[in-house]
Amino acid sequence: MGARNTYQILAFLPCILLFGVMSTTSLEVGYYTKCAKTCPQAEIIVKAVVHKYIAMDPGFGAGVIRMFFHDCFVRGCDASVLLDPSPQNPNPEKLSVVNNPSLRGFEVIDEAKETLERVCPGVVSCADIIAFAARDASYFLGGISYEIPSGRLDGRVSIADEVLKSLPAPFQNLTVVNALFAAQGLSTDDVVALSGAHSIGRSHCSSFTTRLYPTIDPTMDQGFGSFLRTKCPQNANEDGVVPQDFVTPEQLDNQYYQNVADLKGLFFSDWSLLTSGETLNLLNDFRTKPELFAAKFGESMVKMGDIGGTQGEIRKTCRAVNYNY
Ligand code: HEM
Ligand SMILES: *[C@@H]1O[C@H](CO)[C@@H](O)[C@H](O)[C@H]1NC(C)=O
Repeated sequence: MGARNTYQILAFLPCILLFGVMSTTSLEVGYYTKCAKTCPQAEIIVKAVVHKYIAMDPGFGAGVIRMFFHDCFVRGCDASVLLDPSPQNPNPEKLSVVNNPSLRGFEVIDEAKETLERVCPGVVSCADIIAFAARDASYFLGGISYEIPSGRLDGRVSIADEVLKSLPAPFQNLTVVNALFAAQGLSTDDVVALSGAHSIGRSHCSSFTTRLYPTIDPTMDQGFGSFLRTKCPQNANEDGVVPQDFVTPEQLDNQYYQNVADLKGLFFSDWSLLTSGETLNLLNDFRTKPELFAAKFGESMVKMGDIGGTQGEIRKTCRAVNYNY
């Protein structure tokens, strides 16, 4: 018996040492396949759930990619965006006008978490589930493939007022968007690469109608503006939705950059990528080289996934912080 136990202890020794040294300092690829407290199936399970939802509606994929962005930019990638309002915290990030009602895909994360809690309870953070889901959606919608480090923890703080201050708005110019990305340690190149996500999903009319009425913004193709007016009539009862990319609406590809070059991006912030030499050069590179876009998009997603602290917990359910006994 002695030999076997000794062997097991020796096998786990590097793990114990690594855990002690590394767990609070950096994320690792394949985190859940390593060490004693593990869940080797974690990434496979998330991928299967994402696949199932995207097969029903590719919009779920767009939703989780945007969710990753909105999570990471507010208090780091800590799943703070997932917390429901509660008596203790009636106004979480989820209720900010930036997220409500447009952010979608919460049921994808819920189902992945419920499955994981059955297979390996208390091990996989909601923050990592969002990061995995965004990676998998990039693969299913764009064939973009990259490894995403994990080992994030779930935060206990979520404040609606912080969302508007941290996330860029569609009417903001390149200077402001760059500054908000720089505040997260992201570069202008990351702005250009990640904006390519606007080649999938949708937008509500209310996010860009100031560019349609009373006159069509001169920074927008006038024919495209007239067309958008038919999709988004003034004084409509409901806030309509249109695809981000009318050419390949369900493909995460480099069509976005062609649309922006053609003045057919929905947002002023999209158009503003044409307003500096640096962003214009990269836009043209991505517009003409799909593989370059795919590679840089993956790199920038990994970089965005690094934002954040190391404080937190593994939630039991993604919609609420753990109860403190
Ligand atoms: C650069 C600054 C950005 C601005 C100003 C911006 C703004 C917006 C707005 C206003 C919408 C439409 C929401 C609605 O009305 O339904 C939207 C949609 C979307 N954004 Fe961004 N965004 C930016 C960057 C990003 C980044 C970095 C990502 C992810 C990498 C991203 C991913 C998406 C996706 C996938 C959608 C479609 C969501 C869906 O279909 O549910 N955006 N964005
Ligand atoms: C960008 O927007 C900010 C805030 O509205 C403004 O102060 C700044 O002058 C604008 N910059 C450019 C280059 O338009």
